[in-house]
Amino acid sequence: MANNYRDFLKDSIRKTIDFSETAQSRGEAEPPWHKPCRPDEKKITLVAAGEWKIPGIGLEDAIARRMSRRRFANAGLSIEELSFLLWATQGLRAAATAKHNFRTVPSAGCRHALETYIAALRVEGLDKAIYRYLPIDHALVEAARLPGLEGLLAEATFGQRFCSAGAATFIWTAVPARMEWRYAEASYKVIALDTGHACQNLYLACEAIDAGTCAVAAYDQERMDKLLGVDGDEEFTVYLAPVGKTP
Ligand SMILES: Cc1cc2nc3c(=O)[nH]c(=O)nc-3n(C[C@H](O)[C@H](O)[C@H](O)COP(=O)(O)O)c2cc1C
Repeated sequence: MANNYRDFLKDSIRKTIDFSETAQSRGEAEPPWHKPCRPDEKKITLVAAGEWKIPGIGLEDAIARRMSRRRFANAGLSIEELSFLLWATQGLRAAATAKHNFRTVPSAGCRHALETYIAALRVEGLDKAIYRYLPIDHALVEAARLPGLEGLLAEATFGQRFCSAGAATFIWTAVPARMEWRYAEASYKVIALDTGHACQNLYLACEAIDAGTCAVAAYDQERMDKLLGVDGDEEFTVYLAPVGKTP
């Protein structure tokens, strides 16, 4: 079956790219590691790695228990638990330097083209709103405060009501320019691969806090982008995952 969409999964494109012409090779400035925020935006500091009290869980147990969970208890998440989940999915694993921002997940060329948004529905200390994670600062900034957030989330996921039934819904966007700077047209497949790493870590980290999640790739692109206030071109939604305590 001839199907050009399959080429997306292949790396044949690499041989067609003149890497001496990429933005990086042309000497253009590296895009920022996460979307900058305005000076007037209030940063909400999260609990730092090592300062939280997360019960230990064996890696083998976490892997064996992992499953997609679509039913959640009413209990919320503590800010400590949310901090842990954000760290596990996009946080720094070592202090950032001028050259590197190594995170808890791998990324092609360490480009880290994802942004993480949290639709906080029941998180201790956070008003119901959408927040954006700043991995370098390990902090949140408010991105949008929308009445009827649960309904909007369900609508933007084609009525998958469990997407707004948890305590917090993780929504990942891609900022392709960050990857394109080095890899040009070879960026898109690796961004998708990177997204999977983040979500798998979320699945495993959830197991450590008696919570569950479910990867969701079926969503209404335009509605979800509008919800987040992103332009749908320089930045757009790629994946989401509601998180809640297990019933
Ligand atoms: C890329 C991807 C997209 C998915 N999209 C959805 C989705 O839109 N809705 C849903 O209910 N589950 C979705 N899932 C969850 C799968 O249905 C689930 O992983 C699969 O049934 C296997 O179950 P398990 O995760 O419990 O092993 C998705 C999973 C992946 C990895």
